[in-house]
Parts: sequence; C-alpha cells; structure tokens
Amino acid sequence: MTQKLTAAQKEYLRSQLQYDHNDDPPPPNTLAVHQIQHELIYSTVQNYAAQTDVHMLDVGCGWGDFSNKLDPLLKSYVGIEPSPVELGRFTKRPNRYTVRGVGEYMDFLKDQSRNFILLNSVLDHCFDWKRAFANCLRVLAPGGLMIISMENSQKLIVRLKHLLGRPHVHIGHMEFFGYDDTRKMLEPEFKVLESRTIGFLYGMHAVTKKVPLPVGPLRLVNRMANGFFRVASPAGGHIFFISAVRAGKLPVPGNFAAPFRCPKCMADMTFGIPACPACGFKPSYGANGYFDSVPLNADVKAALA
Ligand SMILES: C[S@@+](CC[C@H](N)C(=O)[O-])C[C@H]1O[C@@H](n2cnc3c(N)ncnc32)[C@H](O)[C@@H]1O
Ligand SMILES: [Zn+2]
Repeated sequence: MTQKLTAAQKEYLRSQLQYDHNDDPPPPNTLAVHQIQHELIYSTVQNYAAQTDVHMLDVGCGWGDFSNKLDPLLKSYVGIEPSPVELGRFTKRPNRYTVRGVGEYMDFLKDQSRNFILLNSVLDHCFDWKRAFANCLRVLAPGGLMIISMENSQKLIVRLKHLLGRPHVHIGHMEFFGYDDTRKMLEPEFKVLESRTIGFLYGMHAVTKKVPLPVGPLRLVNRMANGFFRVASPAGGHIFFISAVRAGKLPVPGNFAAPFRCPKCMADMTFGIPACPACGFKPSYGANGYFDSVPLNADVKAALA
C-alpha cells in the first residue's frame, strides 16, 4: 500500500535516501553524551539477553554501529536503512541481514518476528513516524523489548528559548519528540523499564566544536551533571532514553529464526533467495548484500526520481 507524500515529506525523504553521517561529525561533547547513551542501550540489552536470545530490528541502522557494539549480545539482527552510502559501510557478520528501506514500509518482515526493536535517533528522521511506529508494533512480539532514544524537545535550552519568545528549529529532522509524550505513547502497550534524560552541558557542544577537548573527561563531567539534573530537572536533558517491555509472554517458538516473508504474497521467504517460491517475485539485492525494498514502494521511488 502506498500513500501520497506531501512535498515536504518527499523532499525530506530524498535527503535521507542519501544520508551520510560523516557530513556532520559530532564535536567531542556530543560524542561524550552519545557514549553515555550507547552505554544505557548496551546495559539494557545485556539484561534482556540474560533472559532470552535477542533477535534485533534496528530501524534506521545507519552504518551498523549497534550491530557492531551489541554483537556479543545478539542472536540475529535485521537492519533497515534508506541510505546505500551507510549500508555500504556495514560490517558483515553471521545472522546479520540488511535491507535498504524505510520504517514506514516493512512488509518483508513477518508479524511478531523480532523481540527487540531499537529506535535510536530515528523516529524524528521518519517522513511518517506514526506509520513507522505502527509497523514496529506489528513486528515486535509480546514480551519484546523496545528502546527509543533521541533528542528531547523538552530540553532546558528549548524551554528557555520559548520563555524568551525565541523559536527553536530542530534542524535536519522531520519531528521533535518530548520525553513525557514518548513515554505516554508507550504506556498503553508497554511496561517502562527505565526512562531518563541525559546531556545538560548546554553550550559545550559549540565550545568543543572550536576547542577539541578530550572526550574521556567530558564524559565524566557529563555524568556528574546528569546526576545533579536528574534530581533538579529530570526531563530537561538534551537526549531522552526510554526502555520498555511489551505486555504479554514471548511466543515459543517465535518467528525469530526466519523473520522474512515475501512482500508481494506474504509467503515465507529466505533472505537472499533469487525468487519467491510461492509467487515468483524476484527481490533485488544491492552492493554489500542488502535486500533493496525501495523499488517496491512507489512513493519512496518517487522521492528518488
Ligand atoms: C541520526 S541517524 C541514526 C543512525 C543509527 N540509528 C545510530 O544511532 O547510529 C538517523 C538514521 O535514520 C535513517 N532514516 C531516515 N529516514 C528513515 C526512515 N523513514 N526509516 C528508517 N530510517 C530512516 C537515516 O538514513 C539515518 O541513517
Ligand atoms: Zn511471493
């Protein structure tokens, strides 16, 4: 099923189809905050992996940073990413499957076929996040883990700007999510495990762009600030982190070992085969072995034209 994209959605999607994280390398303070964010993700997945095998879906996987970082914890991994530039950098490993595509169209994945979904700095990059999130709910099994983390619209600096009557533009993004609303969005279906915001050293981003202070000490100072503001202004950090488990029991056996299906006829399909045995649909594969779902979606194709 396709939808008609607005001009703004189309333009934005066009930019994401060529996304290259090297275009905007983060300065040291941002790196320090990202490292703390990634540690939160790692420890949450580590705890989950102590209970069950982890079958991950990484929506907007970029160059596969989390496929690498979470490697010892993962049984299998599916990464979806619109940009072939990023997918070309992906490090191949056993049980890793990459798809060129978008969260809004995931017909190639079976219902309840993953037990962990990571949405790290990605919902605000989706041209239709509600559609992408609905797909995540279809694909995530009961008892599955969801982590949502990204820049926070409730951060103190934005609130200060609003008080001063100055607008804040979330440059390079389609949406701007807040900590409270995102938690509320999860609450009906999920039990929140941990939710917090991090990154309170406003101004250090710009300072460390000019003066490249070392990341290690910045991480320490950020941790101290996080500890203080966790009490003083819990929702005010630059980035929010929410981990949550979906209500219900993990299905046994799950669809986790074979998550792919034919996006045309929905029959089971093994990743990498030349044609669907049920309907003859011929999947196309790109450089580095990714399944290319872009030709299947008229509106994504249109954004490329
Ligand atoms: C800020 S990067 C985050 C990458 C990765 N999740 C990480 O944390 O390292 C945002 C990513 O979302 C991807 N993206 C953009 N639109 C998307 C969409 N509609 N569906 C899935 N991913 C998308 C971009 O191409 C980019 O790789
Ligand atoms: Zn088929």
